[in-house]
Amino acid sequence: LDGATGLDGDGDGRAEQADRFVLDPATADMHADNDRLRQAGPLVPITAEGVPAWAATRYATLLTVLTHPDMSRELHHWTGRHAMPPGTAIDRIVTDTSLLNAEGERHRRLRMPLTTAFSQRRLNGLRPRIEELTARLIDRLAELLPDQPVDLRLEFAYPLPREVISELIGIPARHQDELHRLTDAVAQVGGLEDSPGLRKELRELLDQIIDERRGTPGEDLISDLFALHEKDGGRLSEDELFATIELLFIAGHVTTVNLITNAIGALLTERGQLDLLRSGQCPYSAAVEETLRWDSPIAYFPMRYAVRDVEIDGVRLRTGEPVLACFASAGRDPHQYGDDAHVFDVTREQFTHLAFGHGPHFCLGAPLARLEGEIAIKALFEAFPDMALARPVEELPPLDTLLGNSTRTMPVVLGP
Ligand code: HEM
Repeated sequence: LDGATGLDGDGDGRAEQADRFVLDPATADMHADNDRLRQAGPLVPITAEGVPAWAATRYATLLTVLTHPDMSRELHHWTGRHAMPPGTAIDRIVTDTSLLNAEGERHRRLRMPLTTAFSQRRLNGLRPRIEELTARLIDRLAELLPDQPVDLRLEFAYPLPREVISELIGIPARHQDELHRLTDAVAQVGGLEDSPGLRKELRELLDQIIDERRGTPGEDLISDLFALHEKDGGRLSEDELFATIELLFIAGHVTTVNLITNAIGALLTERGQLDLLRSGQCPYSAAVEETLRWDSPIAYFPMRYAVRDVEIDGVRLRTGEPVLACFASAGRDPHQYGDDAHVFDVTREQFTHLAFGHGPHFCLGAPLARLEGEIAIKALFEAFPDMALARPVEELPPLDTLLGNSTRTMPVVLGP
């Protein structure tokens, strides 16, 4: 039907443009939208930022899409790519030249050097540093007036992952102020994909940092990648090197901010669940996993393309059609989690979820995000046992983006 994009609905030309469900970041209730989409079918024709695509909203279908040999992240497979509106968040994700959109040998070549950087051993070494950074942020919060609302997204959830990823990547201290200015401005937008001006500024800053590192290698990721870039006539091209570092900064940041923000909101709303953590009946890591399932930091993520005609769960996709991954929806699928899929329950027996993806593109930073989430949430609730929401979570405006799932603020009163 939609000739320009090569997406013709259910493969038989039946889905009219008007029949498509339009995904809207400003929706009053994303989870209710997702309930409707899951009921409509395993793969549903939608429009996101003006782009027609299939939405994979059910857990089992999403798992199939993420691992199917006939589904690829390589942009050239998308027959409708030329009709994609430029400058959107989707545009910026699908045109990223990092490992995110690579497959096969190229994907292995780009991913392999990063696995050491994110190995469990290296992360264990990071734990004390993350605890120190968390303690410092909590000390700062403790200096504020106990009965005045404070936005924990901005003052706590945001700076922690930024400090951690900056150290891991190797952003020198003298550039931190500039970086803080840039990332603070992104805090409430929801992601750099949604703020092109700021992304350009970040690119310039990273360019400068990478250039400086060229002559003075250190114990950081930029230096590791550089060594690889220079070796063997450059196993990483200049562009790949830059794209990798930028991806790590972006992927490793706002997603974790959303995780911490959403966990605070959930636990302050469901105080009985918080009591289970405080009394030691349940570990804080359970709250992190349940938040990832129940309120996935990523709502919708572009894009995979059918490399040939393929049938998935009874729906026929034509070669070149795009599929959007609906991570927040899969986390609330009753077929996977039962009738209480919408209940936040830290004692749940089944904690498996797809919030970090699955298969070859499984999130490289998952162990790091989990570690940060657990340390942050535990330290915060131990430091402020009387903390309470200043406004109910449902009244807080959502992020202005399709990709991220969180609120723009998380105002709380810290208490004595
Ligand atoms: C990939 C989610 C934190 C680095 C992914 C994917 C998801 C995801 C769903 C797979 C995308 C796909 O298959 O289409 C998350 C969430 C996070 C988080 C929910 C926080 C709660 C991080 C952190 C880092 C990171 C902290 C690094 C510092 C990456 C990278 C990829 C990726 C490099 C691409 C892997 C590849 O294509 O092979 N992430 N992520 N992420 N993530 Fe994360």
